Amino acid sequence: MKQFSSIKIAGTGSFLPDKIVTNADLEKIVDTSDEWIVTRSGIKERRIAENGVTTSYMSSKAALRAIDAAGLKPSDIQMIIVATVTPDHLFPATACLVQEAIGANNAAAFDLSAACSGFVSALSVGSSFIESGLYDNVLIIGADTLSKITDWQDRSTCVLFGDGAGATVLRRSDKGSRILYQTMGSDGSGSDLLVVPAGGSGMPASEETVKNRDHFIKMKGNELFKWAVKKMKDLISDAIEATNISVDDIKYIVPHQVNIRIISAALKRLEIPLEKVEINLDKYGNTSSASVPIALDELVRRNVIKKGDKVLMVAFGSGLTWATFLIEW
Ligand code: ACO
Repeated sequence: MKQFSSIKIAGTGSFLPDKIVTNADLEKIVDTSDEWIVTRSGIKERRIAENGVTTSYMSSKAALRAIDAAGLKPSDIQMIIVATVTPDHLFPATACLVQEAIGANNAAAFDLSAACSGFVSALSVGSSFIESGLYDNVLIIGADTLSKITDWQDRSTCVLFGDGAGATVLRRSDKGSRILYQTMGSDGSGSDLLVVPAGGSGMPASEETVKNRDHFIKMKGNELFKWAVKKMKDLISDAIEATNISVDDIKYIVPHQVNIRIISAALKRLEIPLEKVEINLDKYGNTSSASVPIALDELVRRNVIKKGDKVLMVAFGSGLTWATFLIEW
């Protein structure tokens, strides 16, 4: 297995909208209950973007915090990748709006679409540019406003999601930090499990698509559940096997904050204690590509990650897609 050396996460940042929507609030909108939502998902509340709080706005706030934490200026950033499935517009890329908003005048900028795996995939893409020698400072953002494409009449989906953004600055490292393992994968045969059918070239917007609520998330929850448990388990065990380390060698696992039942079931199969895993889905729900970088930022800001610690990020989602990134801090 190739070892990717000399790259570090130099700074992290995150942003969450102020507005908190609790399960009790949702009880007033759809036929659901706090008890059902907590038992099936572990989610107690989520943040929802008010009008005007866009994906680029949240991304920019998270990005400035990450750049500041890295001790850099926006003009030092040479590349911006925004992982999102809820861009401000179909085009231009949200990354270009972020570049303008934060004044990163020297950066190339583009979006990456891999749903909940987007941020972890973007870490691989961004680090490859550093590996190649082309860039030194790359800004990776995971941001989504799923509330804008959530069907607030569909109780099977609207209770699960939330909005937010997280960012990291990747830099060349001279102090031993390194990537130990990374994977990305996809299986398009499962593309119907989680989809927004309309609004693209396959089903352009029309009166009919609006009437049929085709611009909102459609999900086959039971099939996704089974797939996600197995995928998360396999991704972690593959990382351990490929790097010849043990579970005990990993200090923290930062998984996609999909649902506590999925995470717990995967961990149980691997006999990994929940304490090793950063969980914040109770507060924020499933924030898609933002979930891993927000959780990572919260971990970093608690000052619990020490030099040499191994941190494993693992994500999976619509596509189907998945990605893993194991870094030695
Ligand atoms: N409140 C109350 N009842 C509900 C709700 C709700 N919010 N949603 C569905 N129900 C009902 C259903 O209508 C059904 O009722 P019925 O038996 O009368 O038909 C009943 O609850 C059971 O429904 P199931 O879908 O079988 O419930 P399940 O235990 O499978 O849980 C859930 C549903 C939570 C969606 C589960 O399938 C799941 O976690 N799937 C994974 C989906 C997921 O997390 N997607 C996120 C995106 S994927 C990703 O990020 C990788």
